[in-house]
Amino acid sequence: MQKITVAKGDGIGPEIMDATLKILNAAGAKIIFEEIEIGKNVYLSGNSSGIDTAAWNSIRQNKVFLKAPITTPQGDGYKSLNVTIRKSLGLYANVRPCKSFHPFVHSKHPEMDVVIIRENEEDLYAGIEHQQTQEVVQCLKLLTRPGCERIIRYAFEYAKIYKRKKVSCFVKDNIMKLTDGLFHKVFKEIALEYPEIETDTWIIDIGAARLADEPELFDVIVTPNLYGDIISDIAAQVSGSIGLAGSANIGEECAMFEAVHGSAPDIAGKNVANPSGLLRAAVMMLIHIGQQDVAEEVKNAWSKTIEEGIHTQDIYKSNTSKKLVGTGEFAKAVIERLGQKPEQIKSVEYSRGVKFNLPKYKRKEERKKNLKGVDVFIDWKGTDANILASELIKHNSNVELLMITNRGVKVWPDGFSETFCTDHWRCRYEAKEGQPIRTKDLLNLLNTLDDDNLEVIKTENLYEFDGVKGYSLGQGQ
Ligand code: NAI
Ligand code: MG
Repeated sequence: MQKITVAKGDGIGPEIMDATLKILNAAGAKIIFEEIEIGKNVYLSGNSSGIDTAAWNSIRQNKVFLKAPITTPQGDGYKSLNVTIRKSLGLYANVRPCKSFHPFVHSKHPEMDVVIIRENEEDLYAGIEHQQTQEVVQCLKLLTRPGCERIIRYAFEYAKIYKRKKVSCFVKDNIMKLTDGLFHKVFKEIALEYPEIETDTWIIDIGAARLADEPELFDVIVTPNLYGDIISDIAAQVSGSIGLAGSANIGEECAMFEAVHGSAPDIAGKNVANPSGLLRAAVMMLIHIGQQDVAEEVKNAWSKTIEEGIHTQDIYKSNTSKKLVGTGEFAKAVIERLGQKPEQIKSVEYSRGVKFNLPKYKRKEERKKNLKGVDVFIDWKGTDANILASELIKHNSNVELLMITNRGVKVWPDGFSETFCTDHWRCRYEAKEGQPIRTKDLLNLLNTLDDDNLEVIKTENLYEFDGVKGYSLGQGQ
């Protein structure tokens, strides 16, 4: 028996959770359910994150969490519970299978069967944002080697265990050569360890377009956080069954399983909601805890119910459906079909006894890190970069002014008068050819700039690693 934590959530949550748990019990899942309360009532009782200590303790102890959707109250001061749970528990992998069940659920792409594996913790979602000048705000995009290795290895292990043929990497490394470049580089490194799995790489914009138009091209897709957020909704939508989709959030210690949809307050309490999204999330959970036999039985019975045309109102179509049912009846129909296999939808068989091989991150051998200069960001209200340059050049010492850019476009030397400039100037100082510099040289520069009333709002040090530049050239192209 395995103990897991469940939360019935808000809106349709209790109805679809009851339906799901009934099916799991009838299928003989060896699970003890420990219920916690999260969501609306907890928020409204004055807890700004919608979850209390007792609930945290249960999740952290049981390590597996089946969660119904919750309602986040409107208004400032309420933090997203999903983001809080993902971040606090380090649930780094978001796994979302997007499959078509055509002709039983209409889709323009009958062959679609894609799994999106989205990095869940890093990228622009680190939430590090600053306003630096009157005109400019910034959000820091952070990608890390351990983060990239972890999610990419997870994607390959997933492909191996679920007998998928291909893993595609979606990035924008033609523009973001360092951040997305790292993701792509790690993808190529890890791919070498899985020679039996095909790979390809897509620039995110054309990749997303092809995913929407020809999803049959794709199998498993691995991608950084923001792209994954966007393409997982596109993929679920074009599969035709966003309402049937489940997702898993996996960490090194804990995992959370839930439907993709929300709490649907418009249909709550009416016994009409479709429990399939949560049920399919529960199937992912059963596999996660090693109860593959129960997972297969539930999934096959569910597929049989769908192909027999027993449908809830959200997917009911008079020409393809046979019987319109409510939440409770749908669950009953699935239970009646436990032990049966679907005839048209492919029946499932999950690998047994194989575990994801996800070794702990090992720090790499250090490369030689050399300080080469500094990008000094200055808040300056002028418009002519030549004037700013003539001010800045006075401060050349061990480091020399090399260029000025505005929003990444070079405006000095040899700028264009057409280039639009804001009050946010990046001024690059580098050491003279072949001359070593120290942090002290940069601090001296900042001191003299400040003495001259030039407002430094931030700096970024420029380093080489084993002789390779660790910073973009900043030509803006
Ligand atoms: P929603 O997904 O709850 O509803 C969108 C539409 O789909 C509604 O018309 C609804 O009736 C229908 N629908 C959703 N699930 C269904 C199901 N299982 N069966 C039949 N029809 C279904 O999205 P909405 O309306 O934007 O959000 C409602 C609430 O849910 C909000 O408070 C939102 O914050 C929350 N939410 C929670 C999530 C979570 O806990 N993971 C995820 C998304 C939204
Ligand atoms: Mg999203």
